[in-house]
Amino acid sequence: MPKGDPFSKLEERNRRATEAGGEARIERQHAAGKLTARERVDALLDEDSFEELGRFVTHRSHDFGMEETKVPGDGVVTGYGRVDGRLVYVFAQDFTIFGGSLSEAYAEKVCKVMDLAMRQGAPIVGLNDSGGARIQEGVVSLAGYADIFLKNTLASGVVPQLSAIMGPCAGGAVYSPAITDFTYMVRDTSFMFVTGPDVIKTVTHEQVTMEQLGGATTHNEVSGNAHFLAEDDRHCLAGIRELLSYLPSNNLEDPPVVESSDPWDREDKALDKLVPVEPDQPYDMKELIRTVVDDGILVEVHEHYAQNLVVGFARLDGRSIGVVANQPAVMAGVLDINASVKGARFVRFCDAFGIPLVVFEDVPGFLPGTDQEWGGIIRHGAKLLFSFAEATVPKVTVITRKAYGGAYCVMASKHIRTDVNFAYPTAEIAVMGPEGAVNILYKRELAEAKDPEALRSEKITEFRDKLANPYVAAERGYIDEVIEPRRTRAKLITALRSLETKRDKNPPKKHGNIPL
Ligand code: HXC
Repeated sequence: MPKGDPFSKLEERNRRATEAGGEARIERQHAAGKLTARERVDALLDEDSFEELGRFVTHRSHDFGMEETKVPGDGVVTGYGRVDGRLVYVFAQDFTIFGGSLSEAYAEKVCKVMDLAMRQGAPIVGLNDSGGARIQEGVVSLAGYADIFLKNTLASGVVPQLSAIMGPCAGGAVYSPAITDFTYMVRDTSFMFVTGPDVIKTVTHEQVTMEQLGGATTHNEVSGNAHFLAEDDRHCLAGIRELLSYLPSNNLEDPPVVESSDPWDREDKALDKLVPVEPDQPYDMKELIRTVVDDGILVEVHEHYAQNLVVGFARLDGRSIGVVANQPAVMAGVLDINASVKGARFVRFCDAFGIPLVVFEDVPGFLPGTDQEWGGIIRHGAKLLFSFAEATVPKVTVITRKAYGGAYCVMASKHIRTDVNFAYPTAEIAVMGPEGAVNILYKRELAEAKDPEALRSEKITEFRDKLANPYVAAERGYIDEVIEPRRTRAKLITALRSLETKRDKNPPKKHGNIPL
């Protein structure tokens, strides 16, 4: 028997693999505003850098007529390539093949690239667009998910893991993105939920649309399950490329350094006026951050969630930093449950991957109220405290104005191992604000005073002069230097340069027990 032309067999298989679920399904994907899995991989990676692994893998199901339905690749495109020349592993679920649903063979493909990423110390990017567990495979598919969850967990803190939700992601499938470090969602075309609208209607009688329940806006603004909101697939993939440029490839590597043309000692006089002397006047902390960092670029994480705290990546002197900043323009920058959780997760990511933390602090305290107390602000606030305290990366804090009460301790104070602590002359560091303090300390005198307002005002001024300033803390060494705001950039860069060789570690233990 002649063997036939081996090259034409290869060609035929390659053709079938790239045809994916066929023209009609690809058209449906495009009509829905979505790219195909292969188009996404190409848009994510440097041109022509993708090397596919497991292109001819097929499922092993026999039931439900599956024997006749084998498609090379089985619904997920896996492999590796480069982003800005750096190695990245990727899997992209292909909705045109069995709705991107996950089979045993498919899970093995995903696990294989995760293993390779771990071994090589390279980031993993997962592009999700799937109907979930392949119904025809039953428990074998569930097992495949669990295998992936385990690998996600083991890879956590070893290599950066990024997830993009670019279509459906439902049921237990959501737990893979949830374990990864950052989740992107695409407006109008992505959704995530544990149980869908129909089940919810049956169980709780609530009526909710897919978009309301688990759309990109919901998860970016309300639940906080997503960190980035993209306008379309290309915007999402470009965002992932940008984020990767700030991250090391693994926990043993230093974050990338880029050439910076922004002078390290650039001063900005506008900063001297940006923070209002009046303690109740808001200002935009993002403007302050952008004035200080390289080229004014801040890549915000969780931009739409808990906006009273700003977290994100930027560069100083060409080096990546993680910024954590109270935002006086939103709820006066108060810390609440959501902001604490948001901050804690970000701090722990930076610490795991050796990214120095720069904190800008203007915080009146933790948010009062039964909602917060009953919701567990004690436990959640402790997450932020714990994460700053355990972080051994370089830590530098700038107190721009208020640093009150427990929030002073939490926001990377000297006492929890922050390396360099700066304060502006406008800083107020005290147990509480002057108004609250005077109302408590002089309660009786105020009640008996002929002119309580005059007494209150006199005492507030006295309190402010004596305690609500940066000098009491500076005299104790809790603040290393009171700086002119215009010099913030040079001061931060000088401090961070001195910390480049920082070595600090926590006591040996299996792991800490952060209050979850
Ligand atoms: C096998 C599936 C599938 C699945 C979709 N398809 N989901 N095949 N297993 N889970 C197939 C469809 O049969 C169809 O095949 C194609 O994919 C596209 O699906 P449509 O329904 O036509 O697409 P659309 O209208 O866009 O709806 C998408 C969808 C819907 C909302 C995702 O398909 C859906 O509800 N699927 C089931 C979702 C689900 O309940 N999955 C299990 C969740 S539990 P053809 O041949 O017509 O193109 C889970 C557990 C994970 O995943 C456990 C982890 C521990």
